[in-house]
Amino acid sequence: RRSRWVRWLLAGQLLTGPLLLPVAAQTAPQLSPAAQVRSVGDTLYPTLGQAGLDAVHYDVHLTVTQPGTRALSGDVNVTLRARRSLPLVSLDFLGPAVTVALWNGQPVPFRQDHAAGKLLILRALPAGQEARVTLRYAGVAGVLPDPVFPFTLGWQAVPDPVNVGGGANFAFSEPDGARTFLPVNDHPSDPATFTVTLTVPPGTTAVASGERVLVTDTPDTPDTPGAHTVTFDQKQPIPTYALAVHLGPLDAVDSPGVPVGAGGTLVARRDYFPPGTTDAVRAPYRRTGEILKALSDWFGPYPFATYGSAVVTARLPALETATLSTMPVTSSSERVIVHETAHQWFGNRVTLRDWSDVWLNEGFATYAELLWTEHQGQDGQVLADAWYATLQRRGTRPLTATTQGEMFDSSAYQRGALALHALRRQAGDDAFRTFLRGYAQGGAAAPSAAPERAAQVVGTDDLLDYTRRTLGEQAARVLRDWVQSSVLPPAP
Ligand code: ARG
Ligand code: ZN
Repeated sequence: RRSRWVRWLLAGQLLTGPLLLPVAAQTAPQLSPAAQVRSVGDTLYPTLGQAGLDAVHYDVHLTVTQPGTRALSGDVNVTLRARRSLPLVSLDFLGPAVTVALWNGQPVPFRQDHAAGKLLILRALPAGQEARVTLRYAGVAGVLPDPVFPFTLGWQAVPDPVNVGGGANFAFSEPDGARTFLPVNDHPSDPATFTVTLTVPPGTTAVASGERVLVTDTPDTPDTPGAHTVTFDQKQPIPTYALAVHLGPLDAVDSPGVPVGAGGTLVARRDYFPPGTTDAVRAPYRRTGEILKALSDWFGPYPFATYGSAVVTARLPALETATLSTMPVTSSSERVIVHETAHQWFGNRVTLRDWSDVWLNEGFATYAELLWTEHQGQDGQVLADAWYATLQRRGTRPLTATTQGEMFDSSAYQRGALALHALRRQAGDDAFRTFLRGYAQGGAAAPSAAPERAAQVVGTDDLLDYTRRTLGEQAARVLRDWVQSSVLPPAP
């Protein structure tokens, strides 16, 4: 992969950009050659992330005093570990100006390059060592247009034109929008745990990925009269784009827990709806428990402690934010709920090594739609045939995406799903179920420099190896054809 690493050239930036802390910067340790600072080297997003940096945990405190606007303030503690010696630490950040940076509690020189979207912490981190970096900022969230679709990634603001209880904000970050409101190592190959604390005005409901652990009243300040604070703990590592944050005038609706966790433990169920959500929109969410059961039957235990959906009025796609899918009113169908629920296993538990492998997320989630159809007593083959016809009509490509524009196309979704259908036809239902369960448990991940994270990061090659190991040479050949062929393989 070394050949794909793109170097993020630091020297020019340091010489030409304004130094935010010129005095402190002079006392910074000598920087190693610029070429040693490099991004993760993603094929489609060559500037994201820092190679060798492991962001282990993000402890995030966001304060929003005016929901529905883009104003926010942040106090973020990132626990970082160096997989190799780093001459400095580079985070992705498009948010407001950072006013305070601390390294294990002590001030540290830093430089914020807004144009490059990088926040440089000018301190070396020796291989194997850990540091806690504190960053404080206040202002307006960054704006990042989606490269293909007509919307903005990252921090969303939904004003309240009809005055039904205040505006709302939420995160829609896939693939690289988390950096509009959080300083992050913004790449799915570096999943992390999160503690998210949200301080919001009275009457505003706030929720994030993970389990709710604490609700307190916040001491009044001129900015936050009557505010309250709530904390969520996401204990299993997830990719940065999958972090859910929602705040607004939301109704929480609890449902009975579902015994789909490891060893049959109960998974808590709670959905969130904006004011005025009709019963027609709410109805399909009542099937979420049954969907969790049907999917865990194929995929194995649900990987998190809680699950639900947060419905939004904004015009966006649906997104599989961890433990709490983000569901536009217009996508509130059973099929889309099934799809986003499946991503909790495929995307959030098992994460991507490279964005060009995004079909691994979308193919498995789309295939879940067929499994649900069968669970309903309908013929899944009808759906598979329809996918095949779509691809014949629209044309198709090998599964590894070569441009950002291909990431969410019908090849990623329908061809990806048909590749799995072909494997199932080849292997039979029992072997296919074992294959899916092993993959969801991280069975395809190759060992790497970070063993504790390696079990969940995969690429297409890992899936091919895993297929050969578990289903045999013939099945691996079938999958390779679906992955690589420029024409559509025979209909499964
Ligand atoms: N992962 C989402 C889904 O299929 C799609 C997200 C599309 N993202 C985007 N930036 N266009 O469930
Ligand atoms: Zn999807």
